[in-house]
Amino acid sequence: MLKIEIIQDFIYNTELNYMIILAIETSCDDTGIAILEAPDKKGGDFSVLSNIVSSQIEVHKKYGGVFPAMAKREHQKNIIPTLKSALTEAKMLKNHNSPLPISNKLSTLKNILEREPELLKKITPFLKKCEKPAIDLITVTEGPGLEPCLWVGVNFAKALSFFWDIPIVPVNHIESHILVNYLNQKEIALPAIALVVSGGHTQLILMNKIPTSRQAGANYKILGETRDDAAGECFDKAAKILGLEYPGGPIISKLAEKAEPGRINLPRPMIDTKNYDFSFSGLKTAILYYHQKQPKKIQKNKQYIAEMSAEIQQAIVDVLIKKTIKATKDFNAKTIILGGGVSANHELKTQFVIKIHENLPGVKFLFPEIDHSTDNGLMTAITGYFHKTRTKNWKELEAKANLRIA
Ligand code: KG4
Ligand code: ZN
Repeated sequence: MLKIEIIQDFIYNTELNYMIILAIETSCDDTGIAILEAPDKKGGDFSVLSNIVSSQIEVHKKYGGVFPAMAKREHQKNIIPTLKSALTEAKMLKNHNSPLPISNKLSTLKNILEREPELLKKITPFLKKCEKPAIDLITVTEGPGLEPCLWVGVNFAKALSFFWDIPIVPVNHIESHILVNYLNQKEIALPAIALVVSGGHTQLILMNKIPTSRQAGANYKILGETRDDAAGECFDKAAKILGLEYPGGPIISKLAEKAEPGRINLPRPMIDTKNYDFSFSGLKTAILYYHQKQPKKIQKNKQYIAEMSAEIQQAIVDVLIKKTIKATKDFNAKTIILGGGVSANHELKTQFVIKIHENLPGVKFLFPEIDHSTDNGLMTAITGYFHKTRTKNWKELEAKANLRIA
């Protein structure tokens, strides 16, 4: 009986060549855990077994932004329930009949989670109860992001890697925003220009040699980036000025549907400069001054708020598209890849399609599904897959708040 089981196991592993990846993402205010079935060799498709995001928006809404210490506490609270949901959805959550004795591993777990006391309290009953799932690789965002938040994910990943003895690969969050576009693409024509626009970053990146072989080795060059605020941050700060809730991007884009841009004139900072850098803090200041000049009654007027929203969105979209088109021409890129929370913006994608059609015939445009634009574990899983040969000992892992893609 035992022999037959072993043979069947062997056939499964050699014929299908699939690996299961568990990914953990806590770089900002979303706790993301995904389980991905990925081809071991080139050619197969990805199969998403689960992708659970536990959002902290309700907590941060009251304050109009993310407070790192509060976000860290929320990650500690949410990460095990999020893992349980991800395992359940992937049909991988199984409980031991009787609690597993873990006393021999307790002191190491305590060391790993020394700075995450809330998480330590929750992890011991979980590990005692939960059977080791059939995970081949753990991958976690090591940076960039909010340092206290990154540490929760990194330490949690270390604890699981140590306890279950599963290899671990740390990944870059910006690269994840780009590589999530591989979910439904086997190959991407190169060179490509990637525009990563999130709450913390705005970067134009040249992607030269890519992981077409679905192996590590992508070659990135940052062509330009914001000198001050990120595009998403500008949406968020503008929303706060207008008395709208956090996060600002989705609210401003919704209100913008009710008006045309151009009734109010806001600046497009750095739109005509020769470099690929951005600056959005001047736009934020212009929004503040314009708003402060309005009588109190107008400041609350729905039509005025809609016109401001439309113009704010258009100013940001204009700058992002102009610079990306310029970079694509300058580097003869074959593909434009969009990523990051702001890539959820409908106008940005629609206007990109039109501008690419007019100016860059033949250039392919890739953007993620809305759920994969904002932070999630799936993007981390795909990136971990490309870097699957770069495993590390869990002892080597640390959070790197200012990590750069190149
Ligand atoms: O990538 P992300 O989830 O987190 C970071 O890595 O920062 O991006 C969050 C940002 C926020 O600033 C949010 O306002 C923005 O993405 N965002 C949007 C939209 N949805 C989210 N910005 C514009 N339009 C949207 N529909
Ligand atoms: Zn992000």
